[in-house]
Amino acid sequence: MLNLYKKEEQKSHLPSIDENELSEQQVLDECMKLKEELKDQLVILGHHYQQDDVIAYADITGDSLQLAQEAKSLDKKYVIFCGVHFMAETADMVTTEDKVVILPDMKAGCSMADMANRREIDKSWDFLTSATKKKIVPITYINCTAALKSFVGENDGSICTSSNAKGVISWALEKGEKLLFFPDQHLGRNTCFELGIPLGDMIVYDPRKLNGGVTAEEVEKAKVILWYGYCSVHQGFKKEHIDLIKKNDPDMTVIVHPECSYDVWKNADMAGSTSFICNTIDKAPAGSKFAVGTEINLVNRLNAKYPDKEITSLSPYQCLCTTMYRVRPRWLLASLKAIKEGKPINVIKVDDHTKKYAMKALDKMFEIS
Ligand code: 13P
Ligand code: SF4
Repeated sequence: MLNLYKKEEQKSHLPSIDENELSEQQVLDECMKLKEELKDQLVILGHHYQQDDVIAYADITGDSLQLAQEAKSLDKKYVIFCGVHFMAETADMVTTEDKVVILPDMKAGCSMADMANRREIDKSWDFLTSATKKKIVPITYINCTAALKSFVGENDGSICTSSNAKGVISWALEKGEKLLFFPDQHLGRNTCFELGIPLGDMIVYDPRKLNGGVTAEEVEKAKVILWYGYCSVHQGFKKEHIDLIKKNDPDMTVIVHPECSYDVWKNADMAGSTSFICNTIDKAPAGSKFAVGTEINLVNRLNAKYPDKEITSLSPYQCLCTTMYRVRPRWLLASLKAIKEGKPINVIKVDDHTKKYAMKALDKMFEIS
C-alpha cells in the first residue's frame, strides 16, 4: 500500500564534478558546449529568480505558471529545470511519461513549501470538516509538494500560482462556502481581500498549535482559513521600507510580489507575480523609477536590462532566495554530463497515485487560467 506519510522528498545525488577541477570560466564554457551538443534532446527551463550565470543557459524563462504551461508541450526527452523542487515535480507531472525531468541540485527546495506536509494537512482537514457542516474547498499554492497537490485533487479543490490566484480562489468560493488556503497565508490573505473578503472573516491555522490554534466556533464563523506558512524572502519586506522609499523619492513606484505581507501589499502601488513585475517594468517609459519587493537576482537583472530606468530593491537588505541560488553552473554542468553519458542524475519522478490526483487539480488550474 502506498505510504502517503513517507518523507516527501527524493535523495540528493551529489554532482560528481570535483569543485576544484574546473575554473568558473571553464564551467561556463563547458555548459555552453554540452548544451549545444545535446540540443536535439534537451530543453532548459529557468525561473526568474535564478542567478544570471544559470539563466544564460535557459531556453525558456518565466514565472511558475508560465513554466508549468510550457512544460506541458515540450517535445525534448530531457528537461533540466533550473528552479526549485516543487517546480520540477510539477514539470514531471505535466510532461508525458517519456520525459526525464532533472533538478540540478536536489536540495533546491522552498522554505515555504516545507511549512506544510501531508500529515499536517490531513489532520487539519479532519478538524476543520468536523468543526463545520459547511463545504470547505481546499486550494494550495503551487509552492508545495506533489503530495499536497494530490490532497486538493482528492478533495475537489485546485491549485493556484501567484498569477492566477484571483481566478482560482473565485472559482473555489463559488463552489463552496469556505476556503482552506495553504501554505502561504500572505498570498491567500491578499487575494481574498482583493476579492472583497474582510480581514475579520479570515483566520490563521497554525499546525504547531492544538487544533491549529483555532476553535470550532471560529471555523464556523470564518469564510477563509489560511495556513500559517510564509516566504522568508518576501516576509523580509516591511512597510517601513515603503515609507522610506516614498519619503526619499515620491516618484518611485513600489511594485511587490503578493507573497509580501498584507501591510506591504496594501501600501505598494502595484502587486503581482514575477512575470507581472517584469512586464510592468518592460512597458514603463524611459525615466520610470521602481522599488521592487521581490527576490534580488531578478531585481538586479531588471536593473541591468533597463539602464534607462531606475530599478532598486525595496529593501536595503539582500532578499536572496538561498534555495533558488543552490542551482549553480557547476551543478548544471554535472546534469549535462550525466545526460551525455546516458545516466541522468537528480531525476524528479512523482509516483503514479500522487500524480493521478495532483493532475486532477492541476488540470482544473489550467482550465481556470
Ligand atoms: P511566481 O509565481 O511569480 O513565479 O513566484 C514563485 C515564487 O516562488 C515566488 O517566491
Ligand atoms: Fe520559496 Fe520564497 Fe524561494 Fe519563492 S522565494 S522559492 S516562495 S523560499
